[in-house]
Amino acid sequence: MATSNGANGESKPDALEFRPSKFWKEQDFQSSARLHMQHWIWLYTLGYNLDPKIDVSKDDPIRIADIACCNGAWILDVHQEYPNATINGFDLTPAHFPAAGWLSPDISFHAWDVFTEVPDQYVGVFDVVHVRALSSAILDNKVEPVLDNLLKMLKPGGYIQWDEGDSSATRADVPSNNPKLQSVATTALVHFFHRSQQAAAHMSPEWLYTLPKTLQSRGCEVLIEQWLPAKGELQRAWCDNFLTVWHGEDVEGVVL
Ligand SMILES: C[S@@+](CC[C@H](N)C(=O)[O-])C[C@H]1O[C@@H](n2cnc3c(N)ncnc32)[C@H](O)[C@@H]1O
Repeated sequence: MATSNGANGESKPDALEFRPSKFWKEQDFQSSARLHMQHWIWLYTLGYNLDPKIDVSKDDPIRIADIACCNGAWILDVHQEYPNATINGFDLTPAHFPAAGWLSPDISFHAWDVFTEVPDQYVGVFDVVHVRALSSAILDNKVEPVLDNLLKMLKPGGYIQWDEGDSSATRADVPSNNPKLQSVATTALVHFFHRSQQAAAHMSPEWLYTLPKTLQSRGCEVLIEQWLPAKGELQRAWCDNFLTVWHGEDVEGVVL
């Protein structure tokens, strides 16, 4: 926890302190709406929900887990492609889960903190475990407890697919055909974002760069490691996405 001592000697929280579980539990419908859009960005970027190298048949009754699933946008898409699959979504907070009454009985959602013990009924039962965009919860590069839990959930020979953004690489660029365009406010925001990530949020991307090695050290075979740049035509969508996150933040010296 980041703290500093006040004049009276009391320990007070750092202004930039970030606690992922508090943050995520406070998110409202706007965050869910943003993540529906972000799902589309992911799909547009990758071209798939489940990597084609994952050798599972659309006809088989496979079991899939989606960790940190939020509103289940990925799950609903995957269920259309794999209608015989049973899919369990897990998230720290149930706040954004769609109501069960609207869903296929093959889809269910469960509140679970991925840093805690895997519930017995989910040990060793999944053909595929998917996780996406969990980096804000991986502090001080401590990914191992999460990975060990994901591996526990897999059947022998099962697959993990981890899709992650490297937010440390976020930049404010101007289009190449209009170099005179100003990006002063956006650049200031990006600097604030990086500073708060590093100074108070204890977020750093090293765990992501070494994820394939960490998986190998746990006996996994790495089938694909792919790094994709943000597509030019998605700059507007990413910009809207980030501004939605930062909207209303107390960002020094920047007026949105
Ligand atoms: C950026 S959102 C990504 C949501 C979804 N995976 C997607 O890509 O659309 C991060 C999600 O991680 C969840 N989360 C954060 N910490 C978690 C934890 N310790 N255990 C489970 N879920 C967590 C949040 O509640 C939030 O839904």
